[in-house]
Amino acid sequence: QHLSINQYLRDHIRTVPDWPTPGVQFRDITPLLQDAKVFRVLIDAFVHRYMDPSMRPDVVAGLDARGFILGAVVAYELNIGFVPIRKKGKLPFTTVEETYELEYGSATVELHTDAVKPGDRVLLIDDLIATGGTMMAGRKLLERQGAHVMEGAAIVDLPELGGSQKLRDSGLPLFTLVDFS
Ligand code: PRP
Ligand code: ADE
Repeated sequence: QHLSINQYLRDHIRTVPDWPTPGVQFRDITPLLQDAKVFRVLIDAFVHRYMDPSMRPDVVAGLDARGFILGAVVAYELNIGFVPIRKKGKLPFTTVEETYELEYGSATVELHTDAVKPGDRVLLIDDLIATGGTMMAGRKLLERQGAHVMEGAAIVDLPELGGSQKLRDSGLPLFTLVDFS
């Protein structure tokens, strides 16, 4: 029986009710990373898309913290560099920062001022898009440094929270593998 890649990945995402706060259905990707076969299918889906010469980025930016796991591996496979966008207070050199709201609180993210060069084509990766606040903040930081975010990529989209639509409406193309309503 043939299973679509989307269904295959979805079957390895765990839903944890009421975490970290009541009412949130937390989509946990750790089972997907834990299984070597599934992890490879996941990474290959991204690598396949961005290996195409017309889609090839100059650099991958990963969003703290689960975007690091995916982003670093994808960058390695594409033979390009990786830059982290971190929660405030973690990066040692000079930074730019952006504060935003998310599904359960607010956060500030930072980027090193020398992480990207003007004109760089950046692929921005995270595990999941909810309200889109995290990805929007990351994009602003990268574009403030003169880079061009060519696409945002994530494993999971929660379309009902409206984040992916908001990001697309703002002109950011998105590539996601699994929708949860
Ligand atoms: C989660 C997730 C995304 C973000 C998505 O991270 O990994 O980064 O929320 O939400 P948004 O689209 O509403 O911005 P979280 O902020 O929980 O931090 P963590 O990676 O440190 O667990
Ligand atoms: N980040 C924001 N909302 C989330 C959710 N429902 N599951 C996992 N990560 C999230």
